[in-house]
Amino acid sequence: MTRILVTGALGQIGTELAAELSARYGKSSVVISDVRKPDEVDGKLKFVSLDVTDSENIAKVLVENEITDIFHMAAILSASGEKNPALAYRVNSDGTFNILEEARKAGINRVMIPSTIGVFGPETPRINTPDITVLRPTTMYGITKVNAELLALYYRDKFDLDVRGLRFPGIISYLTPPSAGTTDYAVDIFYHAVQEKDYKCYLKKDTPLPMMYMPDALNALIQLFEAKRENLRHCLEYNVSAYSFTPEEIYGKIREVYPDFRITYEPDFRQNIAETWPASLDTHFAKEDWNFTPQYDLKRTVDDMIMNLKRILIHQ
Ligand code: SER
Repeated sequence: MTRILVTGALGQIGTELAAELSARYGKSSVVISDVRKPDEVDGKLKFVSLDVTDSENIAKVLVENEITDIFHMAAILSASGEKNPALAYRVNSDGTFNILEEARKAGINRVMIPSTIGVFGPETPRINTPDITVLRPTTMYGITKVNAELLALYYRDKFDLDVRGLRFPGIISYLTPPSAGTTDYAVDIFYHAVQEKDYKCYLKKDTPLPMMYMPDALNALIQLFEAKRENLRHCLEYNVSAYSFTPEEIYGKIREVYPDFRITYEPDFRQNIAETWPASLDTHFAKEDWNFTPQYDLKRTVDDMIMNLKRILIHQ
């Protein structure tokens, strides 16, 4: 029987991923973990407290819960990582090493590790960025994720551990607000529009970044998880995204629904990060190897975000 451990299960992606995995494989097949305690334990999924920097506890959790597969979602993202680089290093680099090493020792079947557009840097080609290219990031987040990508390859090649992952762009979602990344404005802007508040954007209006909607991000992860191993030529070097936009472009789309919505621009340190990241991604490895095909274009994303946030924030 498949029994999946999700680390970082209270984060933006982890929360929705755990629900999706349990809908797909059954509640008893998913164990969620996080360094934080959940606000409320709804009793639906088993929760274990887990700090990924504690390798002994990882080993214990894997054995006690008879874990067969891991989705390692715990990470300190780009903006938080710049505020506390030492913590980002410990969680992202030591934590990923611990997960891989304990997974190897425990004979885990598949280890899923998301990577990010943060692995790219100022010397990377910015338009249609290839999967295999220059990886010289300038953030601690990016440095630790390059490390994770290389560690994944090492564990695959040296120990035959089945490690899989993909490079996420900014993820737009409405359930668990993100609070630690450079791409988070693309979520925050919706919360403001729906609550009819003005929005102050921390990026310049003409800064393009690749993005995708949460349902496509979850599908991508699960498709990759279920792909036949022999079809996967790569490890974590799979770019995925659905579209790219600038703050001014997404503002324009939202204004079609909320004509009175106002935005101002006050760039901060996150602008410097965004300028080192791709404007758009070449996703052909993911398309070729596991048929990555996003379903949500920008219009469908905007409509769905607004509908759901209205339901959650206004009509609850
Ligand atoms: N969403 C992430 C961040 O902004 C990028 O992968 O840090």
